[in-house]
Amino acid sequence: MKAIKEKSLVIIKPDALQRGLIGEIIKRFEKKGLKIVGLKMMRLDKALLAEHYNHHKDKPFFKDLAKFMSSSPVIVLCVEGLNVINAVRLVCGSTKASEAEPGSIRGDLAMSTACNVVHASDSAATAKKEVKRFFKKDELHEYDKSEYTHVYAEDERK
Ligand code: CMP
Repeated sequence: MKAIKEKSLVIIKPDALQRGLIGEIIKRFEKKGLKIVGLKMMRLDKALLAEHYNHHKDKPFFKDLAKFMSSSPVIVLCVEGLNVINAVRLVCGSTKASEAEPGSIRGDLAMSTACNVVHASDSAATAKKEVKRFFKKDELHEYDKSEYTHVYAEDERK
């Protein structure tokens, strides 16, 4: 796979939907120069949440996290780009939103650790699993983005 086609999964969480922040959050990824290759609204059921947050299943906050994440629909995005997993994490900011860096999504738009407006894949291995978990093959789109010639240098696009 070309490095520029690295993919990451983003979930715009129920608190962001309730607070009218969907557009603001998507805008941040678009302005960064990332390519959105998948986007949909869905409601996360118990089974999907148990799988997605399996690594947190024994944590004291798991029950509240599952309740919160199913309290409204969410928006799921698959974004693509060079070093996209790390770039998306930086754009999102630290999990503990009250301490997240100013300029990041959480730093600018949130105060809570639980209600931290977005989820993003944290590694290449996780991203692969998460993209597959939330998107069917035919829901991911390949297309040329005209601005790429100005977002990346020629050697980065190869
Ligand atoms: P997310 O990126 O979706 O991954 C796991 C989520 O668990 C995290 O964002 C937070 O929403 C939530 N979370 C992590 N740590 C805590 C905590 N200490 N208390 C409450 N929620 C947490």
